[in-house]
Amino acid sequence: MPVLGALSVALEVPSLAEGITFYTDAGLQAADDGKVARLRCPGQDRDSIILIGGAARKRLHHISLRAEKLDEIAGLAAGAGGKVVDAPEGFEDNGLWIEDPHGMLIHLMEQAADPELEATVPFEVNGPGRVTRKRRSAMLPGASYPGARPLRLGHVLVFSPDVPASVAFMTGALGMGLADHAQDIIAFCCARKDSDHHVVAFAKSPGTGFHHASFQVGDPDEVGRGGRALLAKAGKGDWGFGRHTIGSNFFHYIQDPWGSWFEYYSDMDHIDDYALWTPTNYAMDDSLANWGPDVPGDFVHNYEVGEEFV
Ligand SMILES: [Fe+2]
Repeated sequence: MPVLGALSVALEVPSLAEGITFYTDAGLQAADDGKVARLRCPGQDRDSIILIGGAARKRLHHISLRAEKLDEIAGLAAGAGGKVVDAPEGFEDNGLWIEDPHGMLIHLMEQAADPELEATVPFEVNGPGRVTRKRRSAMLPGASYPGARPLRLGHVLVFSPDVPASVAFMTGALGMGLADHAQDIIAFCCARKDSDHHVVAFAKSPGTGFHHASFQVGDPDEVGRGGRALLAKAGKGDWGFGRHTIGSNFFHYIQDPWGSWFEYYSDMDHIDDYALWTPTNYAMDDSLANWGPDVPGDFVHNYEVGEEFV
């Protein structure tokens, strides 16, 4: 089971300052040297978002995944349509750098798992025949809550010109599993052991590109509250509060300065053993959400291909 989880996504961006403002407003912590900004979840000792400044327009640089048995992956990459490459300029020659069949750069690194997240108070719902919360309110006045606190990067969704080919590479060379998909339009890959429902997902587009990075927060309320607060600061588009069918997570997506998205999520399906999971091919009606607001017209638009986001 070579791929074990998501580590980070690196983007080339036109404005480092705009990117730092957006991601720190989302609750990440920033460090930058004027050329590269590194953003991490509070309490984590590693980066989740890397922004490389000075680009003409936003572009996916690479994704990083935690993995094991890198020699095995290196041996399988070419046969699965990809190739092993040198570390790109400005990045360490550590781990394994490979390109998938569409030239998307993937950095695989062997490193220890993140420490287990602290358990939170259960999210209680008073339901028919099951009243567990009595003589107290579930909600405090809105101003009582601190800003959203991203706990960890859960998954990354990228664009692909051929979703089944991308999935075949992730399963054939990187040892991931296909969790679920909707036709050949969108597909979700997981690690084979103790994985969120998806770690890397693909959406069909004329080219490669970055769609969104998704960060886990404490509970569904924090998804909705955090989404509203970030939307007010970012001032672009949003989609949410809603709940996905595929993966089951509550979501709120906020548009970043370049037309791609930041997702807060809570309550994702968990696949502890991929051998015991059966992938479903969903109809397009369920490909995006089970319920939620109308989907913005450019939600699945790849601004790295064709016209630029303004
Ligand atoms: Fe997502």
